[in-house]
Parts: sequence; structure tokens; C-alpha cells
Amino acid sequence: MSKEPVAKIILEGKEFTYPVIVGTENEKAIDTRKLRSETGYITFDDGYGNTGSCLSDITFIDGEKGILRHRGIPVNQLAEKSTFLCTAFLIIYGHLPTQEELDGFRAQVAGAARLHEDFRHHFEGFPPNAHPMAVLSSMLNSLGCYYPKMSSNNREQDLEHFGDTAALLISKVRTIAAMTYRMSKGLPFVYPRGDLRYVENFLHMMFTEPYNDFEAPKEVTEALDLFFLLHADHEQNCSTSTVRMVASGGANLFASVSAGVSALWGPLHGGANAAVIKMLEQIHSRGDDGSRFIRDAKDGKARLMGFGHRVYKNYDPRAKIFGAAAERVMEALGLEDPLLDIARHLEKAALEDDYFIERKLYPNVDFYSGIVLKAIGIPVDMFTVMFAIGRMPGWIANWKEIAESSNRIHRPRQIYMGEGERNWVPIEER
Ligand code: CMC
Repeated sequence: MSKEPVAKIILEGKEFTYPVIVGTENEKAIDTRKLRSETGYITFDDGYGNTGSCLSDITFIDGEKGILRHRGIPVNQLAEKSTFLCTAFLIIYGHLPTQEELDGFRAQVAGAARLHEDFRHHFEGFPPNAHPMAVLSSMLNSLGCYYPKMSSNNREQDLEHFGDTAALLISKVRTIAAMTYRMSKGLPFVYPRGDLRYVENFLHMMFTEPYNDFEAPKEVTEALDLFFLLHADHEQNCSTSTVRMVASGGANLFASVSAGVSALWGPLHGGANAAVIKMLEQIHSRGDDGSRFIRDAKDGKARLMGFGHRVYKNYDPRAKIFGAAAERVMEALGLEDPLLDIARHLEKAALEDDYFIERKLYPNVDFYSGIVLKAIGIPVDMFTVMFAIGRMPGWIANWKEIAESSNRIHRPRQIYMGEGERNWVPIEER
């Protein structure tokens, strides 16, 4: 007789049985979907550290072992053999593209690079010192207004146009990012070029001047492509869960990824790459080699940005790959950055320190990425925008998963801890 695994919960002397779900990699979850209707109880999990919010086919992470795979393929293989656009295709469509599919996808992305001319007026509406993440989030939502057929909030219709919308967003997020940078510097906007590849075109729109075409060294374009690839998806993080949440209400892809950008902005999430550089600069300006900062972090007076992760209790595999890339780019560009030395020292000191060892705090993807972006010439305020460009395929794939599979709006419960019922008091008696 076969026995399905079950979980037994005893509440107020009564036993309830719930099925156990086992994932591809043997991750186990108790299926509590009937818990409230059967018992009146809900689960409480502040920060969702023990809550599986969905079944997903896209990305697998084993934080204890430091494993990250997209659609089954380890990230280090992708980093070595793939490109950002090829990885984006894999994440969105679930398989590695054939040459024909890849060429078609590249052409679709390249063909969608230009923005409607009216879009310039949107940029004019922002003050020149507006934060690029605020601009990006607004612009992505505004973009949907130019494509009403793709942003109908009618699931069937939005899914019918999914392929075009996905390519359009991957392409235009990069154009918007570059225009935001040009606006902040008071520089003329630069049109995309049809003959350039994804990263080259982005750097062209960022840095070309009238009569002076910008040509990036190969090492720079490779490093930036790798940066985008390593950020392409990371399962149910804060911004991706936001995208799924917004999508669950039936919102279109433009609105959902715009919300994702807002969620990404915070320093505990995508804002960490900018925070790392600010931290390293602060350490450098104090004449510290990192030792004093480590002490402050242990005393709770500072936080070592770019360290620690909710899921990884081991080395973030992306940090390893990018740490090596940082060395390569600096060497190729003949640059020496004292911040890289401080970062190396911080990493070594932290990895040997009991405080960090006991808490299993390791470098995360953001620890070295800022140094590479800085070497490429990307201003610190734009770092999180770069993360958003990279994360776009992941948000898109997760939106698709919701749109195709679920008609159930995401709506968590809460435990109310406020006042009990009380009467309204007239203003003169308060
Ligand atoms: N520096 C010093 N102490 C830390 C750090 C850190 N970076 N991260 C965690 N701790 C300590 C924390 O104080 C706590 O100590 P105690 O048990 O004594 O109270 C313990 O480690 C557990 O930390 P937590 O805050 O409960 O862990 P969390 O899972 O809620 O937070 C995190 C994860 C990423 C928000 C946190 O590690 C952090 O703030 N790191 C710095 C910011 C950062 O680099 N974020 C980028 C994450 S990777 C990119 C992305 O996916 O967005």
C-alpha cells in the first residue's frame, strides 16, 4: 500500500492532515491551502522566509549549497557560454533557443529599440536631478499607454501579444535608462543604432557625443553582458514577488514591471549595489582598510552592504563569477581602484570572522558589481537601473507564469493586533 507523505497538525486537541508537495529538487512544503477553511487558523510568517508563494518552473536556488539554475541550467555554465539575450530567451520561453529562434529574438529586440518621439515630453516633466529609478518606473508604466493593445488588462489579449511585449520591454528599458542618464547630464538624446548588439547599443546611447561615436572595448561589453546575465532572474525575491502580486490582480506586463522597478529600488534589494560603492568610498575616505568598518558592523553600528542574503547561506555563485570579472575588467582597462583592494580585504576579513561565519554571511552579487559598473563609467545613481535592465527577463517570465496559470488574486491575511472595537468620539471631547 503506497503512502503519500502528509503533515499532521494538532489544534485544540483535533488532528488535521495536509498533503506534502515535493519539488523537482526535493524541496518540501506543507500544502496549507485548506488550513483556514478547515481549522480557522492561518500561518504567520513575517517576511515570508518559510512561505512558498507559488509553484514555479523558472529558477532553482539552493541557498545552503550556493546553487543557482535557470530552467535547469547552472548559472556558471550560462555565464561561461551564453549571452544575456540568449539567457533571457531561456528564462522567458523555457528552452535554449535554436539559432533561428535566437536570431529572430535578437532582431525583434533590436527592432524595438526606438521610443515614440512624444516620449521626450515625459522626460521634460522631470527635474534634472530626478532619481533614475523614479524615472524608469514611471516611464515603463507610461510606455504601456503607447501600446494599448498590449496593455489591455485583459489576460487573453495581453497574452496574445506577449512575445512582442516581452521583446519590446527588454529593448526599451535600455533606451529609457540611457535617455534618463542623458537627461540628468543635460546631454542630447542619442538614437539607437540598428547595427549594434544589445550591450554595444546601450553604451552607444549612453556615451556617444555629437561627432564622436563611443566604441566600447570588448572587455567592457563582455563584462556588462555578464552583469545583465547574472541579474536575469533570482526566483521569488522582493521585486519579482511584487511583479507576481501586481500581475495576480490582472494588471498588464508594463504596469507589473513598473511596480517591480519600485520594489527593486530599496537598499536592501537592488539598491545595494550603489550602497556598496558608497560604503567603500566612505571606508576609503576615512583611511580605513576595512578593519574598522568590520568592527562597526559587528557592533551593529553599520551594515556590510553586499554581504548576506535571505536565501544564500553560502557563497552567492554570482558573486564568485563577478569577483573574477572585476579583476579582468580592471586589468584590461589598466585601471587600479583602491576600492577593489578594500573590497578584497573586507571579504577576506569577514570570511574569517566568527560574527560573519556564525550568521553565514557571504558576499552577494552586489559586492563586486558596483566596482565593475564604476570602471565602465556608469554613475552610481544608475547602478540599480542596470540591475533592472538585467532583471527584466525574470520579471517577464514570472508575469507570464501568473498570467497563464492562475486566476487567483494574491491576497495574504494578517493577524490584527490593534485596538478592539471602540466608539467614535466627537472632536471637542478628544
Ligand atoms: N552586515 C552585518 N550584519 C548582517 C548583515 C550585513 N550585511 N546581514 C545580516 N546581518 C546580521 C543581522 O544583523 C542579523 O544578526 P543578529 O542575528 O545578531 O540579529 C543576522 O545577520 C541575520 O540577518 P537578517 O537581517 O535577519 O537577514 P535577512 O535574511 O533578513 O536579510 C539581507 C538579508 C540581504 C537584507 C541582509 O543580509 C542585508 O541587509 N544585507 C546587506 C544588503 C545587501 O547586500 N542586499 C543585497 C541582497 S542580494 C541582491 C538582491 O537579491 O537584491
